[in-house]
Amino acid sequence: MRELSVSRLKGSGIEVGAGANPMPIPLHCQIKYVDIFDVSQLQEHRYDGQESLDILRPDIVAMLGKLDPIAPESLDFVVACHVIEHTRDPIAAIADAWDKIKRGGSLVLVVPEISRTFDKHRALTELDHLIGDFKESDPERMRDMQHFQEFYAKAFVTPAESYVATWKEKWAEDFPIHYHTWTHQSFMEMIDWMMSESLLPGLQEAWSRPPLPADEGCIEFWVVLRKEE
Ligand SMILES: C[S@@+](CC[C@H](N)C(=O)[O-])C[C@H]1O[C@@H](n2cnc3c(N)ncnc32)[C@H](O)[C@@H]1O
Repeated sequence: MRELSVSRLKGSGIEVGAGANPMPIPLHCQIKYVDIFDVSQLQEHRYDGQESLDILRPDIVAMLGKLDPIAPESLDFVVACHVIEHTRDPIAAIADAWDKIKRGGSLVLVVPEISRTFDKHRALTELDHLIGDFKESDPERMRDMQHFQEFYAKAFVTPAESYVATWKEKWAEDFPIHYHTWTHQSFMEMIDWMMSESLLPGLQEAWSRPPLPADEGCIEFWVVLRKEE
């Protein structure tokens, strides 16, 4: 499914957050890698099972949500696999990535399904919450605090004696936890809302597929948004 989701890409673009597991981008494409961390930070904070030497060296250090080093309408594609859930304001992040894509280009998102990962005991993020993240200014990051409390209680379950210190420390350092959770359906409802608010100008095609049956060990769904030529 990952191969299928990127199979129509052409030209030059970026993959954000490839880590040690880049997407199978067609060989005729030119690609640069972008991550919120530089290579030494990525090597220092490896995810379980990641080998240090497998980590791709980011060409650009920037975040999904604020791809400021990239000019508007300059890319044929933006790909992000298991990254959108790490953004504090996913609607703004998708709109910002969309802005960087040329006519005829694509945004490919691979997203973990809440019930298939360590998020399964957390609440599903409501659309109203995501709209609030997008519309309400929150300089003190109080809206995010509840995500850290929930994440370290129900996802990365933390012993009672270190729970408060852990979520406070991670919140203070703005660590990229899974802020939000989705099902395929709730994610596409967010995309529908973005369309209704004209936040995806020129959207021509929205292809997506729900996760494969759970017994195939699949934890994700796939979304491809294409701009008109
Ligand atoms: C869970 S890993 C996914 C790695 C790989 N794509 C995969 O599917 O196995 C998330 C990656 O995204 C990066 N990341 C997290 N939040 C980010 C953000 N807002 N912008 C850019 N990169 C981010 C992390 O540093 C990490 O490399």
